[in-house]
Amino acid sequence: CGIIGIVGNQPVADRLIESLKRLEYRGYDSAGIAAQVDGVLERRRAPGKLKELEKVLAAQPLVATTGIGHTRWATHGAPTERNAHPHIAGRVAVVHNGIIENFAELKAELIAAGRTFSSDTDTEVVAHLLDSELATGLSPLEAFKATLDRLTGAFALCVLISGEDEVILAARNGPPLAVGHGDGEMFIGSDGLALGPFTNKITYLEDGDYVLATHAGARIFDASGSEVARAVKTVPASAVLMEKGNYRHFMEKEIHDQPEGCQHTIAAYVDTLTDRTRVEGIDFAGLERIQIVACGTSYIAGMIGRYLIESLADLPVDVEIASEFRYRNPSLRANALAIAMSQSGETADTLAAFRHCAQAGMKTAAIVNATESTIAREADVVWPIHCGPEIGVASTKAFTAQVSVMIAIAIAAAKARGRIDGAEEQRLVRVLLGAPRLIAEAIGLEGAIKDIAAEIAKARDVLYLGRGPMSALALEGALKLKEISYIHAEGYAAGELKHGPIALVDEATPIIILAPYDSWFEKSASNMSEVMARGGQVVFITDPEGARHAPAGAKVVVTAPGCDPLISALVMSAPIQLLAYHVAVVKGADVDQPRNLAKSVTVE
Ligand code: G6P
Repeated sequence: CGIIGIVGNQPVADRLIESLKRLEYRGYDSAGIAAQVDGVLERRRAPGKLKELEKVLAAQPLVATTGIGHTRWATHGAPTERNAHPHIAGRVAVVHNGIIENFAELKAELIAAGRTFSSDTDTEVVAHLLDSELATGLSPLEAFKATLDRLTGAFALCVLISGEDEVILAARNGPPLAVGHGDGEMFIGSDGLALGPFTNKITYLEDGDYVLATHAGARIFDASGSEVARAVKTVPASAVLMEKGNYRHFMEKEIHDQPEGCQHTIAAYVDTLTDRTRVEGIDFAGLERIQIVACGTSYIAGMIGRYLIESLADLPVDVEIASEFRYRNPSLRANALAIAMSQSGETADTLAAFRHCAQAGMKTAAIVNATESTIAREADVVWPIHCGPEIGVASTKAFTAQVSVMIAIAIAAAKARGRIDGAEEQRLVRVLLGAPRLIAEAIGLEGAIKDIAAEIAKARDVLYLGRGPMSALALEGALKLKEISYIHAEGYAAGELKHGPIALVDEATPIIILAPYDSWFEKSASNMSEVMARGGQVVFITDPEGARHAPAGAKVVVTAPGCDPLISALVMSAPIQLLAYHVAVVKGADVDQPRNLAKSVTVE
């Protein structure tokens, strides 16, 4: 969910909406705002996208200068108006991101005390608790602290109290929250992007902090209740990077951004004068292991990294889904490097897994897009990707930028560990530097891919197969298709086909095989024959050499540019992303904001 709060001098409703637009990537099931009008709390809420809330506001304007707003990604309670934030109880209106874990127990207690609830959310208990504390005569700050002390879970909160006209209270316990410093105005937001239209002077709250914001400024307290001074940073405005340009969707734009995104990223990790790698902060020679933790598409980028780092540098790499890793007892070694792979740098599970590694004494590195994010701020070493803000919920350019960093790390580690010599390092760096051009060529296949999309859009199930790094990319292809077109898709290591998924194959099942002409090609080609023998309709995505050697009978052969295996995951990404994109367009799906998903998931 996304949070915004403004203690301002100008009409607040439009400002809240402007900010919520920038927060929609955090969820878009429903939205709402609240403000005080003549000392009385008023709110407007609407299920669905922000434009629904805008319609409500057009019909019933909310005239005030101080207010709070929320865009929701439902955890407790369906995405209805009744469950949309802000939630109001008595004198209190609250917006919330995260989960109050002990809400059931608190709710029972509050009901027993005679309170009635008007939503199914965990958030409403916060409003009731705070209202009860205020009723005992405590000041807003004291009542807020008393309320926070009763809550368990990971949450960020922003609160308005009726009768306290020019005050906003906020707290961070897990999910990110930032304070924006204006001129006689103060802002609270889930991130710097939300505050961008109003100020570039930002304080990132620490875990456990809570804030009292007024026109005069923000007083910040730490978890123990002591007032603390937190740094104010000047953050560069990134507003211009949020435009769609001539593209229909952000995802389409971001697919086309990839040559540039990869180029900028690669340039940060290699020296183009000497063709050597430049991955700073870690001594790969002395390292025993790498542990990558991540979720979603970032996890798949990590899997590709594992193939490359192990095979080039002979350095053991484990990659694990963060939500699993954090709750088991993994065997950790201090002489290992933990890498958190995260576009947003805020994914709750990734952060928790990462902290687990840090506590075990491991050195930590973050591969992130958001360099001011929590994960970046907690890491020993930050290796940013440089692809610009990613808005489309389905990750594309962040993925290829992450893979670019993995490749640079693989080369740097191989050199540091004496597995390759200087000449080979230079050759590999030149291969990597050539990737953006080949990605651009692969994007040039868009026309051909669009032609296939109409056919795939009719399918109920789609299988993606590949071997080696292409088996990871098969997972990514299936994930992209699922996310935005809602077609059931599975990615499989092609060799595993015979152990299960082959049962799914019939004339109606498109099978996408990712098979550049590499050391796995022959094996993938025989898998192609196996599925064709069972009536499967094969889309064979390969390179010119692979196209020459492919068994006859594929329904479609897509010929991507040939390349060194080092970068084939980068080059082969564009065709699968474009395929998912055009299938979703054919189906008329909401490409940039697919149902049930969120760009940044700060709950577990
Ligand atoms: C969400 C997004 C995915 C993303 C995943 C991990 O599920 O919808 O696109 O891959 O989170 O996000 P992160 O920001 O940690 O890379």
